[in-house]
Amino acid sequence: MSTARERISIDKDWRFAFGHATDPAKDFGYGTRAFFFAKAGYGDGPAAMNFNDRAWRQLDLPHDWAVELPFDQRGDGNHGSKAIGRNFPENSVGWYRKTIDIPASDKGRRVSIVFDGVYRDSVVWINGHYIGTQPSGYTSFTYDISDYLNYGGKNVVAVRVDATREEGWFYEGAGIYRHVWITKTAPLHVAPWGTFVHTAVAGGRAQVTADVVIANDGHDDRRFTVEQQIYAPDGHLVADQTGTPGDVKGEDETDVNMAIDLDRPALWSLEQPQLYRLTTIVRDETGILDTYETPFGIRTIAFDPDKGFFLNGQHIELKGINNHQDFAGVGVGAPDELIEWRLRQLRKIGVNALRMSHNPPTPELLDAADRMGFLVIDEHRMMGTAPEIKDELTALVRRDRNHPSVVLWSVGNEEWALEWTELGTHLADEMQWIVHKIDPTRRTTAALSGSSEGVSLADDVAGFNYNTQHKIDAFHADHPDKPSVMTEEGSTTATRGIYLDDPAHVHLSAYDREARPGQSSSIEEAWQFVRARPFISGMFVWTGFDYRGETTPFGWPAISSQFGMLDTTGIIKDSGYYLQSVWTDAPMVHLLPHWNWQGREGQPIDVWAYSNAGEVELFLNGRSLGRKSMPNASHLAWTVPYAPGILSAKAYSNGKLVATTEVATAGAPKAIALSADRRELKADGRDISVVMVSIRDGKGQIVPTADQKVSFDTEGPIRIIGVGNGDPGSHEADHPAVRFSYASLTNWRTLALKSVEDRAGIGASADLSTWRDPFRWLPPEKQPPSTTALAIRGEFAAPGLESGQSLQLFLARLADNQTVLLNGTEVFPKSQDGGLVLDVDVGSLRATNSLTFIIKTPSGGASKLADDSQAGVNWATLRVATPPTPWQRSAFGGYAQVIVQSTGAPGKGVIRATSVGLAEASLTLETKP
Ligand code: GAL
Repeated sequence: MSTARERISIDKDWRFAFGHATDPAKDFGYGTRAFFFAKAGYGDGPAAMNFNDRAWRQLDLPHDWAVELPFDQRGDGNHGSKAIGRNFPENSVGWYRKTIDIPASDKGRRVSIVFDGVYRDSVVWINGHYIGTQPSGYTSFTYDISDYLNYGGKNVVAVRVDATREEGWFYEGAGIYRHVWITKTAPLHVAPWGTFVHTAVAGGRAQVTADVVIANDGHDDRRFTVEQQIYAPDGHLVADQTGTPGDVKGEDETDVNMAIDLDRPALWSLEQPQLYRLTTIVRDETGILDTYETPFGIRTIAFDPDKGFFLNGQHIELKGINNHQDFAGVGVGAPDELIEWRLRQLRKIGVNALRMSHNPPTPELLDAADRMGFLVIDEHRMMGTAPEIKDELTALVRRDRNHPSVVLWSVGNEEWALEWTELGTHLADEMQWIVHKIDPTRRTTAALSGSSEGVSLADDVAGFNYNTQHKIDAFHADHPDKPSVMTEEGSTTATRGIYLDDPAHVHLSAYDREARPGQSSSIEEAWQFVRARPFISGMFVWTGFDYRGETTPFGWPAISSQFGMLDTTGIIKDSGYYLQSVWTDAPMVHLLPHWNWQGREGQPIDVWAYSNAGEVELFLNGRSLGRKSMPNASHLAWTVPYAPGILSAKAYSNGKLVATTEVATAGAPKAIALSADRRELKADGRDISVVMVSIRDGKGQIVPTADQKVSFDTEGPIRIIGVGNGDPGSHEADHPAVRFSYASLTNWRTLALKSVEDRAGIGASADLSTWRDPFRWLPPEKQPPSTTALAIRGEFAAPGLESGQSLQLFLARLADNQTVLLNGTEVFPKSQDGGLVLDVDVGSLRATNSLTFIIKTPSGGASKLADDSQAGVNWATLRVATPPTPWQRSAFGGYAQVIVQSTGAPGKGVIRATSVGLAEASLTLETKP
């Protein structure tokens, strides 16, 4: 038995199929077998170990099936109007199955399956045994499955995911959209999320306290020692301490606490996010039992009621954004590299803080925040203390408390039924108590739409959503001891690259303005408000990226929000440049709008400039339109009679030219251009490159009004995993995917044959009265005598196929040398994935068709075969395939985007983009081992 802890990714090679939320027949008969949920191991349909899933689609995780669905007005507009939810039972349940090998040598170890997050209401079965249900679409959860495994054999994980119900009021996706892992440990091991490292820094020294929970999953009492090693950011061992032996009873846990002093610690900061590593080694007299790694950072944090937030004693304004999880093309199933890419885009506009609105994030996002130096408000989903809610809160804090990036816990967001009530105060108090018990080092907040009563009285740090919803100065005066933070601001609505409202196309002008005049703030007003009040720790803009759903103010046909500082593809919108001008120091100047206003010659156009320089001078076609001083935290405006050409700006600080920019009138679209965020990818089947597509004129200038449809294809070891263009009104497919639908055969009958050559009575028009229903009991004296050969016959109706669809029969290999007849004529299915597949020409079918196997009778006879057949489903499945539409996307405002992923193999991959009337473009990416 190996003793080393293992953590194995099992994201690859899952089988997926749509089940059904209301019709058991379309849910593969799940839940219909007698004793299904009454007896252990009676999981039926896909939950059964031997269910045959060969006809299912193969895919890798993370996977969001909602993003593959069409838009539909009957879908929930708040969720992006995808055809999912109550009105679409056929699209709302997804089944995932995977076979994993567990070696015999693992016997005696503890094996767990870890889900980072499944949206939502997942039920997990292992080898036909019920393991557990997790309602939350955001909580990470772990099941110890050691007792259910076949050691030295195959094991089947089946997960039924039901995304019918919603948890939020924004696009949430559907499926196993985060990673899945198998962990293996010795029975005595560090408990899941079992370490808590916290630090106190004073006088150039850090005291590191490492709390460990040791779990004993064996029955015998055990004695052990714990060694704690600390590795500095440069990888050197800087501390090593072994505690006195401890004892833990069988099937129990115990806590071990150790304090370690470090001299001159390297502090975790935004500029230098230095990460230490704690290695916890558990031993007994036989040697090492477990080695558990905990990355951590050493830093101090403080929220001051008058002065705001401090990191390592240094004042830092929180320049934050809120985000949901989804992104163009991939929905919520974002590869880790894309999550990091998103953070890099936010960094460009000066973002230093992220609020995880309104739910626990994927752990990899926090890892990236730790590595890259972002501050995080980590948020629980729904306020309350009911057991399930409490478990979610506990899981969040236990999972995330070692991340140095996390500086504040939020116990809730805008809970309208609680905010102003005594119950609200009480629940918030209780939740804070739970948080502080698990993590005494951080404070809590709640992001509220109303203060002065209820929840806001309880939280440690007041969280204001929108200054216009609160009397913030009065609250500060009344609660002088309470720090505060602007947990949401903005909710401005603007379409990237659009400068005139165009409700028919659900487009909104991108000049920064209040979304609800008099009741909300522009981004500029919001930042000015926060800046003027040093007691507010900073502001979190609603939102960083546009996201699907919350289509304010339009509703259908809009499908995404327009609150973002960047669009759904990560292109910076004009208000994002405003933030860049007030949140970053590298000299910049940005002009809006674009300069393609054919037909408006001579008419006045508002030109705005954002800059962090002292002065900006504007030019049209080389002629100065005046040099102006940049007002504080604001913008400059000119009214310019339109003339085509080049609008340019020069930015000066202290009289010195520090930045320039220009927008040019582009000519007619002539060519496509592709540019990749990275040209070199890891050949690991995960790594991605974000490819921007732009439409250019004859001079290579981007055409800001271009909307050509572009088609994409790839060659070599890369694949496309999503396309987007940032248009909140686009109903084009983000992620075209193959769709399979299945039908089972019916009227199964068996006939005892004298030999496999005995074909009498088997023809297409067989007299079935002499055949037997294999699933029906017969008195022993009526059962046919066992013969050497057997015919098994099922029926199916010819499905109506739409153009492009194809039909296949997936057949079992019931015995060696079996013969298969379709409507009485022998057919020759091909071998595939350990089974047989027959392409069926639907034109050759009748209204009702027969499929007959002729086999040598196996041991156990027809009844044993029938018992193993899942009511015949395993014998034959009819599959209709609807191929995916091609990868295509129209440009919007001159741009589109393609996300390209390595398929796993090393080599050169080419992505090609074509469009009628435009010169095509291609780009070579290299995937390296
Ligand atoms: C807030 C809410 C956010 C989002 C935003 C849109 O009230 O907390 O989740 O809905 O409004 O303006």
